[in-house]
Amino acid sequence: MDNNSPIPMLDLKAQYLALKPELDEAVMRVIESTHFINGPDVEAMEQEVAQYCRAGHCIGVSSGSDALLVCLMALDIGQGDEVITTPYTFFATAGAIVRMGARPVFCDIDPVTFNIDPAQIAAKVTKRTRAIMPVHLFGQCAEMDPILEIASKHKLAVIEDAAQAIGSEYKGRRAGSMGTVGCYSFFPSKNLGCFGDGGAVVTQDRALADKIRLLRGHGSHPKYFHKLVGGNFRLDSIHAAVLRVKLKHLDSWTQARQQGAAYYTACLMKYGLGRLIEAPKILQSRHIFNQYVVRCDDREGVREHLKKEKITTEVYYPQPMHLQECFANLGYKKGEFPESELAAVTSLALPMYPELPNAQRERVVRGIVTHFEAAGKLSRRATA
Ligand SMILES: Cc1ncc(COP(=O)(O)O)c(C=O)c1O
Repeated sequence: MDNNSPIPMLDLKAQYLALKPELDEAVMRVIESTHFINGPDVEAMEQEVAQYCRAGHCIGVSSGSDALLVCLMALDIGQGDEVITTPYTFFATAGAIVRMGARPVFCDIDPVTFNIDPAQIAAKVTKRTRAIMPVHLFGQCAEMDPILEIASKHKLAVIEDAAQAIGSEYKGRRAGSMGTVGCYSFFPSKNLGCFGDGGAVVTQDRALADKIRLLRGHGSHPKYFHKLVGGNFRLDSIHAAVLRVKLKHLDSWTQARQQGAAYYTACLMKYGLGRLIEAPKILQSRHIFNQYVVRCDDREGVREHLKKEKITTEVYYPQPMHLQECFANLGYKKGEFPESELAAVTSLALPMYPELPNAQRERVVRGIVTHFEAAGKLSRRATA
């Protein structure tokens, strides 16, 4: 990779090539077995993921979105119910709640971690509240102790949206294993990604696990006798086989991401851009850096400049959930969640994947410096 080559947000090809023989063999094994849905690879993957996430049970499902949906179904959350969650997340979080006919009650974020601010949750609890759905955004756990405490006090379920956070930890506990249920996404860009859409639910509760497993296959048991109205939320065996190969490498990829994140941070400090860094506020956490996100005032200017230098960046997320057109009927107004709205206009995700060389990370940071220098926003002293 030379000094002028494009820097993508992530490079799935590099990961595939490194594991090609193993992955090809796993996929071919499923093809030759003709066992395409559920089956031995799905069961083995479920056991391995449950163990990795320190959860009693794991149910492979069709996506992270369906993981959230099937959890709400299993908990009988629907019409007239409220679920407290963050407005600063991917659409699927709030979408699942609305699809079940329940109301997402938004609660603003902590500006430092981008995660739901636990100090604001208690005031949102009403007689209709059934669950809290924290999101472990960008790979860093939400502050779970106060969330679990409020949930226990009011007898609420906790549905962890750990779609971006497999393997991340809060005070030694793994994301997904702390609440009533935890949901993962295996979308290809996640730290553990399959070859298409996939997801999983974990729980410590056997009865709930059994219900989710039932709902995953149209509530049918035995075959063609339906105890519940579920859906088709099954996981394809090819994805499970791929996930089993990749899971063995997840910790080394996480380590590479953490080292890459530390390098970004050191570079930003070296070039006088410390103010752009999110501070690691929850010190007892293991951040798995699904994304490395900085904050800048002139975000669009920075993006444009980096684009000219062939550096891709991304914005997660430009529109908070309470301002989405499809949720207009919920009645939320601009200005209600100021920290989420500010994050939506200032956050910028930099290229992040385990194989990205540090020299390229430095190029990303130098690109940001050049932009600010040109805009007169960085003193010479600060760059020295
Ligand atoms: C926070 C969050 N929740 C849910 C999802 C949904 O996962 P999937 O794309 O696998 O349906 C995602 C995916 O990006 C996500 O980032």
